[in-house]
Amino acid sequence: MTKNTSRVQQGNAPLQKAPRRGFRVATLAAAFSLFALYVAWHEAHGPGAPRNDELPILQARADDASQPANAAPAATAAASDLVKRGEYLARAGDCVACHTADKARPFAGGLAINTPVGTIVTPNITPDPDTGIGQWSDADFLRAMHEGIGKGGARLYPAFPYVEYTKVTDQDVLAIRAYLKTLTPIHYAPPRNSLTFPFNLRWLMVFWNLFNFTEGRFVPDPKQSAEWNRGAYLIEGLAHCEECHTPRNFMQGLKSSSRFSGAVQAGWHAFNITPDKNSGVGNWHDDELVSYLSSGAAPGRANAAGPMAEVVTDSTQYLAREDLGSIVKYLRAVPPISGGEARARDQWGNPANDVAALRGTAINAVNGAQLFVANCATCHNWTGEGVGASAPGAYPSLIHNTAVGASDANNLALVILHGVNRTTKRADVLMPAFGSQLTDDQVAALTNYVTRQFGNPRSAVTVEQVAKLRSQQ
Ligand code: HEC
Ligand code: HEC
Ligand code: HEC
Repeated sequence: MTKNTSRVQQGNAPLQKAPRRGFRVATLAAAFSLFALYVAWHEAHGPGAPRNDELPILQARADDASQPANAAPAATAAASDLVKRGEYLARAGDCVACHTADKARPFAGGLAINTPVGTIVTPNITPDPDTGIGQWSDADFLRAMHEGIGKGGARLYPAFPYVEYTKVTDQDVLAIRAYLKTLTPIHYAPPRNSLTFPFNLRWLMVFWNLFNFTEGRFVPDPKQSAEWNRGAYLIEGLAHCEECHTPRNFMQGLKSSSRFSGAVQAGWHAFNITPDKNSGVGNWHDDELVSYLSSGAAPGRANAAGPMAEVVTDSTQYLAREDLGSIVKYLRAVPPISGGEARARDQWGNPANDVAALRGTAINAVNGAQLFVANCATCHNWTGEGVGASAPGAYPSLIHNTAVGASDANNLALVILHGVNRTTKRADVLMPAFGSQLTDDQVAALTNYVTRQFGNPRSAVTVEQVAKLRSQQ
């Protein structure tokens, strides 16, 4: 990563290093000079404006489509159906991922989310009346999901993806609510946020919203197929893929001109997933994308590690095939965006043939090839070709692997530091973490050997970059 070859990297580098003062000045400028604009906007979009909740979005039904939308089964059966549907939708929205810090306390919050302006801690959303949302009304819950406003009227921070959840129908939000009500209440008050001034002032989000948020339910596009619309409803709404895959503007809002073109968060590069052939996933077959989302592996192309492994583990593996198909259909149709790559990240690399040359060489603690043979070859083979081909739980080939062939080596270094941990119905996938065994210069040497040999030889990391990646959570 010495050279920031990808556009995404360049787009984000100033963001991460941006002096906080820049943010502050911009936000205050927005605050003071645009109040009038906000008032005008509020007039137009306020409660008087027509709502589209009532639109019959039949194609958006995420559970078994066999049941007619307006059937009226017995009350209890209907209630349990509602809860089941709510559970499914809560998975599609991946609520558990952010609202769980300790697996023994699911949905009780406490997860610290690092933002450029401080730390936001997720709240408890179990039905506990004191520390959770047990005293919330359905209207409170709808307002939080649709408008980003908490009980009592406080503005919520957009680390909670209400920018997307606003698209979800009332019916589906209330199904999630019905499911959350069935959870065991957990009495736990998460630690408070620690945000720098002025970002600790929640009301400032009014201005953030003005530029970066459009309240309103999903409106199907009649010119598109039912499948596309269903995919759009899921991706633009609950699945919130863009929170990671779309770059952000200086206010940390999603850049609508470069949707899905990739972004870096806490060091991890959520790759460009537009249909561009070299920079995105244009060469993938539909069923490879479905397989990646349902199992975390698309053999010969990619494996899901880090935040994407969590998305697969907690969310996408549970989605019905039909819904995954719709997601892929929609993703296929977004405009392709090139990041300037000349070759797809899953099209790099050759098997190694240097094991013979290594024989008899003096052991050197920071020799990438030796470190590879000592630490990685038992599973990935000294040639890098892996073991077990495409069987579930196989040790993948590092040749034609997107983390190794990407235009920056962030994800590869992070995979070496933290390993891979993914639990699916298909397999428990585990690659050990090497962070505690290898020093920063060893991780850098290993990363650079792996990209040179099996991937994109132009992506390299420095020891300082590894140290920085190690310190990010
Ligand atoms: C990407 C992380 C993330 C995901 C995914 C997420 N949330 Fe949250 N949520 C947050 C954060 C952060 C806050 C707190 C925001 C703040 O303090 O202003 C929050 C706040 C809330 C609140 C307000 C609670 C309160 O006490 O004020 C509710 C309700 C909520 N989330 C429900 C959900 C539901 C339901 C889902 C799934 C459909 C979900 N969240 C998914 C991060 C997330
Ligand atoms: C929490 C952040 C996050 C969210 C949400 C997220 N992704 Fe990802 N995604 C990533 C990261 C990080 C990677 C790279 C993983 C790796 O290198 O192993 C990735 C990788 C991918 C890849 C593989 C690209 C490649 O070339 O290897 C696809 C496809 C993908 N994501 C699709 C999606 C879709 C569809 C959604 C929404 C349902 C989604 N992602 C939601 C972070 C996220
Ligand atoms: C004990 C076996 C084992 C060892 C040792 C091991 N790996 Fe892995 N590796 C795995 C497994 C399992 C996966 C994930 C497979 C999957 O996703 O289905 C994986 C995945 C990967 C990936 C793909 C990650 C992605 O996001 O696409 C890379 C790159 C990788 N390993 C590199 C290495 C390197 C470099 C070393 C040596 C430091 C190493 N591995 C050591 C088992 C191992």
